[in-house]
Amino acid sequence: MIKAAVMGYGTIGSGVVEVLETNRDSIAKRCGDTIEVKYVLDLREFPGDPIQDKIVHDYKTIAEDPEVSIVVETMGGVEPAFTFVKAMLEAGKHVTTSNKALVADKGAELLAIAREKNVNFMFEASVGGGIPIIRSLNECLTADEIEEITGILNGTTNYMMTKMSQEGLEFDDVLKDAQAKGYAEKDPTADIEGHDACRKIAILTSLICGRQVDFNEIHCEGITKISATDIKYAKAMGKAIKLLATSRKVGDSYCAMVAPHMLPAEHPLFPVNDVFNAVFVHGNVLGDAMFYGSGAGKLPTASAVVADMVEIAKNLDQNIFVEWSSKKMELVDYKQSVNRFFVRTTASEAAVKENFGDVTFVKAEGVSGEIGFVTEPMTEADYEIKAVALGNVLQMIRVK
Ligand code: HSE
Repeated sequence: MIKAAVMGYGTIGSGVVEVLETNRDSIAKRCGDTIEVKYVLDLREFPGDPIQDKIVHDYKTIAEDPEVSIVVETMGGVEPAFTFVKAMLEAGKHVTTSNKALVADKGAELLAIAREKNVNFMFEASVGGGIPIIRSLNECLTADEIEEITGILNGTTNYMMTKMSQEGLEFDDVLKDAQAKGYAEKDPTADIEGHDACRKIAILTSLICGRQVDFNEIHCEGITKISATDIKYAKAMGKAIKLLATSRKVGDSYCAMVAPHMLPAEHPLFPVNDVFNAVFVHGNVLGDAMFYGSGAGKLPTASAVVADMVEIAKNLDQNIFVEWSSKKMELVDYKQSVNRFFVRTTASEAAVKENFGDVTFVKAEGVSGEIGFVTEPMTEADYEIKAVALGNVLQMIRVK
């Protein structure tokens, strides 16, 4: 029997215990052994819960128990998760986590400790919830130079953009609805400002380049400025507005960004709606691939964590090498990237042509007192200069 511990008995941690119980027999067949949760670490007690006798409050109880070989971290945040996970790896225990903040910040360091101790540090659930994107990049797409990853990596904001598009609602109303449904948290900043997606694209970029990407250096715009008027223009153009997290190879580096984009109907990410996530990958020999599915939530995320446990159970005596060193990847400045831009302005058509040259004007039903247009491709830096010269810009959204 393989003994495991779960650190953090919140939504995901309790989901892990549930998945291990629900699929106990099939999981045991795949592992070649049964997995039993010996400890659950949490500050709280859980009277009446089946795990009530397994609750411990000191992480050292787990670290110092030689019987425990797999530890699940589902606490969230960098500290104290980092201290606990580091202690587990140093004690020779394998770890799997769903914690993107921890992985984005400390991934390289924790992988190095795991390698030194001949154990595994796995984090499939940290990006895309139940979608198997991490193992796909680490173990399946290894023949390729990955030239682009573009994802809808945040379920909450994708739900909100879908709702705004389908019902013509304003941002604040949709946010309240997302909070009422339990998708958005009481403090929704990390989702709606793009920080969550930013950490996820930082993790994916680190994996495809094998070096440490600092998420603080990724240009990040959220969806808070998207309005019902923007949706009207998008519909007039047959496009959908989605929060995209994207990373493109430029020479030996990558250019990464999180921002709302207008997508045409033929784009593979166009039909990805509601809380679903999807990750589009382009490899230099593979061509295109897309991964689609449940990107958040208790059981989908727990499914990915338990899949890591199974992988660990099959590799208890060996470290599976993951190329992600602590050497920093200097990202290309996003201002060099080339895009087309949809712009709303109260300036005149003549002023638009004078500053932007050839543009396509767009009319949206029920919108007056302003004009909308789409530019020709230009760099972000050029766009900024022209937009300042034009003045009176109400909105800018990048167009795919
Ligand atoms: N808040 C995240 C989302 C949860 O909405 O996608 C999964 O990381």
